[in-house]
This record gives sequence, structure tokens and C-alpha cells, in this order.
Amino acid sequence: MARLVVVSNRVASPKERAAKAGGLAVALREALSKRGGLWFGWSGETEVGAPPEPKIFRSGRITYGLLTLDPEDQRAHYAGYANGTLWPLCHYRLGLLAFRRADWEGYRRVNEHFARALLPLLKPDDIIWVHDYHFIPLAAELRKLGFEGRVGYFHHIPWPATAVFLSLPSHAALVRDLSHYDLVGLQTENDVRALLTYISSESRGWLAPGGVVNLRERTFRVAAYPIGIDAEAFVQDAKDAVGSDEMKRLRASLAGKALAVGVDRLDYSKGLPNKFAAFGELLKNWPEHRSKVTMMQIAPLSRGEVAEYRALRRELEELAGSINGEYAEFDWVPLRYLNRPFQRATLAAIYRTARIGVVTPLRDGMNLVAKEYVAAQNPRDPGVLMLSRFAGAVDEMTGALIVNPYDVEGMGEALHTALVMPLEERRERWRTNMKNVETNTIHHWCERFIAELSSSQEALPD
Ligand code: G6P
Repeated sequence: MARLVVVSNRVASPKERAAKAGGLAVALREALSKRGGLWFGWSGETEVGAPPEPKIFRSGRITYGLLTLDPEDQRAHYAGYANGTLWPLCHYRLGLLAFRRADWEGYRRVNEHFARALLPLLKPDDIIWVHDYHFIPLAAELRKLGFEGRVGYFHHIPWPATAVFLSLPSHAALVRDLSHYDLVGLQTENDVRALLTYISSESRGWLAPGGVVNLRERTFRVAAYPIGIDAEAFVQDAKDAVGSDEMKRLRASLAGKALAVGVDRLDYSKGLPNKFAAFGELLKNWPEHRSKVTMMQIAPLSRGEVAEYRALRRELEELAGSINGEYAEFDWVPLRYLNRPFQRATLAAIYRTARIGVVTPLRDGMNLVAKEYVAAQNPRDPGVLMLSRFAGAVDEMTGALIVNPYDVEGMGEALHTALVMPLEERRERWRTNMKNVETNTIHHWCERFIAELSSSQEALPD
């Protein structure tokens, strides 16, 4: 079995216990341990004129390689091009897109550093799996250095429609970079269509059946790999949570009120202001729910080095304050707003207690909270998943109450519908969703991508 090499900007520390690490980190660790593997990424540190040698250490069957970056390179790469340009672009937020040539150059330079630091650690028959938009040019940089082995890329976020993608000044170069991979994975068929449309209409690429692309004398494949969760672990955590101290405390604090829950990184793609406003609409238009429902929004702080994220934080603080100021009673706070992250077991307890899971991003690659919420439900009395039509998960979660996050009044109405939904309908919707969550797990996703990447160079026509 060929060795697996994973490259991602964030590397889950080997010390981080499964309870804290996300499902993706757990699954990647599992795949790496099975084959013996290397996990390569950013050390999380910066140092002026950073050393070109990565820090290497082993834990079990996994070798870790962590590269420290020069602070200016790291800024241009992470806060600049990756999160100031590509993130808003891929989430359809052209008004927030900032493009600076120096950031684009810094982004490429960091990819070059990564390729140079990684190359000496590679064997010709390794399978390299690169994750996310921080590293689109990595395969091209490795090829420049002479690496010919199998390299795959998975894009965890949406691929934008061509009209949007064309706003990026470096669009042509970025897609040329993609052509150096053997396999490009996207979350949904919609994303695949968007990328293939761009390739055929804007970059004179050839498309063959099965997502095979020929672009500038390189042949590669583009396909959808919808990411899943560790369903079994989540179901178990939710069962274990029943009767736990945490669940008891939560229930006591609710004192019989229904709970609607949202869990999102504090990010403008998540549609949090609209979600808060929709809750305000519910309380305004259906006064019978006042003092009967509590919304809890868990929103761990994220990317504070990017100005838009700081602005969003202020906006949400104001909105939460105004909803609570308007509707709170001496014994009821309508909106509980928390900025800290929670462990998986606690989240499972909260999800299981919540009558509604409110997942309403303006745009999202997949959204695993939607799937986690489903997995955590009590099959006999499940809650309702309220899901944005712009989350990748909507293709699979067909039992959800589907909403348009730009329609704040419509979302207020959907909250009402969910609160009064009869048990039989809740069960039926939940069964539809759960079937999918159980079938398409993170393990299945990982294995499928690795298998298809492993055979990619034989499968591709010359
Ligand atoms: C998204 C991206 C990931 C990223 C994560 C957290 O899920 O797809 O690549 O790691 O957000 O963001 P951060 O900027 O903190 O790594």
C-alpha cells in the first residue's frame, strides 16, 4: 500500500484527543495511521526570515512536518490572498473581495516554500492529498521541482459560478495550477459543474466524459466527493449525553422552553445577522412563542486578523443585544450568544436537546453541523433541521426544512413551522436525513478519495 501524505494549513496536533478534534482530523489521522503517513502543514508560528527546514516528529505511525513562515509571507498567504481574496470570492461576496498583487505573490511564495520543504520528504510512489484553498498552486510547484507522483486536491469550500470567478484577477493562473493535480475533488455536483463550465468556456480546456479534463497538455479529473461526519461517534456521544450533568443543567436552564440551536464559526458566510433577525421576526409575528423558545447561537471567534470578521463580531453583539433588549423577560433571555468553542460531547447534548437545528449560511461548501445535528437526534422524538438552500448539504439533507437565508421573514416563518411541526412529520424528515448521514460518512469519503487518487494516473488517458 502506498504511503499517504496529507497537506493542510492547519494540522491537528497528535496530542489533541478525538473528543476535541473535528471529524475530518480524526478521519485523516485514521487514514494516515493505517498506511503510515506524513501530515505536512503550517506550524502555526511565524519567525522573521523563517528557517526553510520543517520541524519533523513522529507520533505512532504518523510523521508530522510543520513549517514556520516569515510573518509577512504568512500574512499575505493567510489573511491576504487565502482569506481576503479566495474566501469571499468562493462564497460569492464580491463586495468583500480584496485583491492585492503583493498578496497573490506572497501566496505563491508560501506554496513554493511548502513544495521545497516537502519534496525531500517524498517518495515517488507516495499519494499526496492537498486540502483546501490555501494550497491550490502546490502541485504546480512540486511539478516544477520534478515530482511526477500522484497529487490530489480537495476544495472544502464552494467553487463559484463562472461569472463570479471571473472577477478574480488571477483566475486563469489559478485554474492552470489546478491542472497539475491528477484529481480535483469538490463538495457537490453544482461545484463540479461550475468549474467545468469555466474550463470549457474560459480556458480552452477539453472535457471528456466522467469529469476528465484536458488543459494545456495536462489531463486530470474533477469529481464531487460530498464530505460526511463520523456518524457512529456522534450517535454514541448523543446517547451518552442523555442524563449527563451537562444535559441536566441545560434542561434546567431552559425550564421547559423549546431550544433552537446554531453552531457556526463567526464568519460572514454563515449568515448570522440574518439568522438573528429571523429569530426577531418569529418573536414579532408569532407572539405565542415569546417566553416559550430560546435560541442558542454558538459562534467561536475566527480570523480576527481580517477586518471583516471584527466588523461582523461588533454587528452581532449589537443585534443580539437589541433582540434581547426588546423581548427579554425577567425570567427569559430569548437569545443566548456564546463566542467560545465546545467539545463534541457537549455539542451532542445541546443538539439532542434542541427542537430546531438552525443552519442558514449564505453560502457553504457542505456544512457538517447540519449532519451532526441530525445524527444527535432522538429517533423517537427528533428535532427539525432548518437548512439554507445555499449549503452544500442541501443535496443530501432532503428531509430538512429548506430556507432561503436572504428571506428573513421566510426564515422567521420556518422557525414557527418547525416549532409546531407534528411528531410524525418530524420523524419522517429525520429518517430521510439520517439515512444519508449514516451512509455517507467521513470514513467513506476519505477512502473513496484516496482510492480514486491512487488509481488516477492509470485511469487517465494520455
Ligand atoms: C473552513 C476551511 C478550513 C479552515 C477552517 C477554519 O472550514 O475550509 O480550511 O481550516 O474553515 O478556519 P481557519 O482560518 O481558522 O483555519
